[in-house]
Amino acid sequence: MIQVLVASHAIVGALFLGALVGRWIVLGLAERATSLIAIRALTQAAVPFERTVIVSSLLVLVLGIMTAIAQGRPFLGPLQGAPVDWLFTSFVLYLTIVPLVPFVFVPRGRLLDAALEEAIARDVITPELIAAFRDPMVRAAHVYELAVVTIVFALMVGKPF
Ligand code: HEM
Repeated sequence: MIQVLVASHAIVGALFLGALVGRWIVLGLAERATSLIAIRALTQAAVPFERTVIVSSLLVLVLGIMTAIAQGRPFLGPLQGAPVDWLFTSFVLYLTIVPLVPFVFVPRGRLLDAALEEAIARDVITPELIAAFRDPMVRAAHVYELAVVTIVFALMVGKPF
């Protein structure tokens, strides 16, 4: 039973990382596309990656906590009288990306959707659309998110301390 939990959690974790990279590639292509038809097709292609990111980010956390509890591992580290180890560090690091969703991804995503709708209605690539794609806040949040998930993945597999 515990092995099934660990395997499910690890598979969902790999899916999460894969979907983040996939979304990164497709949205990067959309940003560099020179026609509205291509931008539209590529932003639509990003939707399944986005959905996978949303579902797997939640599921990996739930399965991770379930696995830790099933194995009797103190994932709350010092709060459970245990030392700071790879699991507690991963848990804390992971929690730091959660606020990005309500504070960056949801509001900025709405701006991008609105800019795309307006560009389609006017049948022209507008400066607002270009600005929304190049939003430095979203870019920084995506870099941070991918870095954290990659580090957590490495900590999970390597368990270095
Ligand atoms: C980005 C998020 C995460 C990813 C990609 C991820 C990935 C993985 C992977 C690939 C493994 C298998 C490692 C191995 O034994 O070779 C694993 C194991 C594990 N993960 Fe995660 N994980 C994530 C987040 C979490 C969180 C937030 C927790 C708990 C709070 C957690 C708890 C665990 C536990 C307890 C194991 C079992 C370790 C063992 O059996 O030795 N994970 N994880």
